[in-house]
Amino acid sequence: MTSPIETPARYAVAGNPVEHSRSPAIHALFAAQTGQSVDYGRLLCPLDAFPATVRRFADEGAQGCNVTVPFKFEAFNMATRRTQRAELAQAANTLRFDSSAHGGWLADNTDGVGLVRDITRNAGVPLAGQRVLLLGAGGASAGVLGPLIEARPALIVLANRTAEKAQVLVERHADWAAQHGVHLSAATLEAPGTAFDVLINGTAASLSGGGVPVNGAVLRPGALALDMMYGPAARPFLRWAQSHGAIGRDGLGMLVEQAAESFALWRGIRPDTAPVLSALRSEVDALPDGDH
Ligand code: ATR
Repeated sequence: MTSPIETPARYAVAGNPVEHSRSPAIHALFAAQTGQSVDYGRLLCPLDAFPATVRRFADEGAQGCNVTVPFKFEAFNMATRRTQRAELAQAANTLRFDSSAHGGWLADNTDGVGLVRDITRNAGVPLAGQRVLLLGAGGASAGVLGPLIEARPALIVLANRTAEKAQVLVERHADWAAQHGVHLSAATLEAPGTAFDVLINGTAASLSGGGVPVNGAVLRPGALALDMMYGPAARPFLRWAQSHGAIGRDGLGMLVEQAAESFALWRGIRPDTAPVLSALRSEVDALPDGDH
C-alpha cells in the first residue's frame, strides 16, 4: 500500500532584500526536528508592491509568511486581526493567512518575545528588576518594547538620536508600562544615564558605519550589551562592549527565538532552539568581516 503524498505547508520570508536571510535555513531545521512537512522560501517583494505580492502568495495556497525590512508596517496594516504585542509595535513580522471563516489574516510580532527569551534563557541574564537602556526608536525598537516591559525590569530608558521619536514610542507604551510597574522614559543619546544592567542596541548605527552611538559609561561592569545585528555587522559593537567591561551578545539568538515563536504560531508546536542556534553560530562566526 502506498501512503498519500503530503503537500508541504508553504511559508516564506517576505522582504526586500531577502537573499541573505537565514530564516529559510532556520525553519528547515525546525521542520526536520519536529517532523513537520514545511516548505519555507524567500519572497522578494518590489518596494511598491508588498500587498499584491503577499496576496498572490496566499492565493497560491501558502499558509503564512515572516516579514522583514521594510514591510513590517504594511504587513500590520494588511491583517484583519492583530495580537496585542503587534498592536503595541504597530508592526508585524509574522502573518498567518487564516481564511475569513476563521477570522481572516492574523498579524503578530515575535521579535520582542524572541529578544526576551534570548536574554533570559539563552544568555541566562534576568530582566526582572533590572535597569535597561534601549537605543533607537525605529521599527526594531518598536517591535521589542512591549515584551521588554512585560519582563518587568525596574526601568527602561529609551534613547534615540531624534528625541521626539523616542517620546512618541514611550507615550504609546505608557499604560502598558504602568500596568507592569515599569518606569519608562525617553532620553537623548547624549544623556541616557549611566551604569545600566542591560543595554540593547536597536539602532541602525552599525550598518551606517556610525559606531556605537553612546558613551561607555552607560554600562555597569559585567552588564549585558546586546546588538540586534549579527555577523560581521555586530562585531564593532561587541568589541566596544568588551572594552568597557560588558558581556557582548549579538542578535543571532533573538533571530532564532523569534523564528521559533512564528513556527509555533503557524504549526502549533514549539521547536528546540538550542541546536539550531549552535549550528547557525558556527556558520556566522566563520564569516569574514564585510560578509553577510
Ligand atoms: P529599523 O526599522 O531597522 O529600526 P528605522 O526605522 O530606520 O530602522 O530606525 C533606525 C534607527 O536607528 C532610528 O532610531 C535611528 O535614529 P533616528 O530616529 O534619529 O533616525 C537610528 N540610527 C540610524 N543611524 C544612526 C546613527 N548613525 N547614530 C544613531 N542612531 C542612528
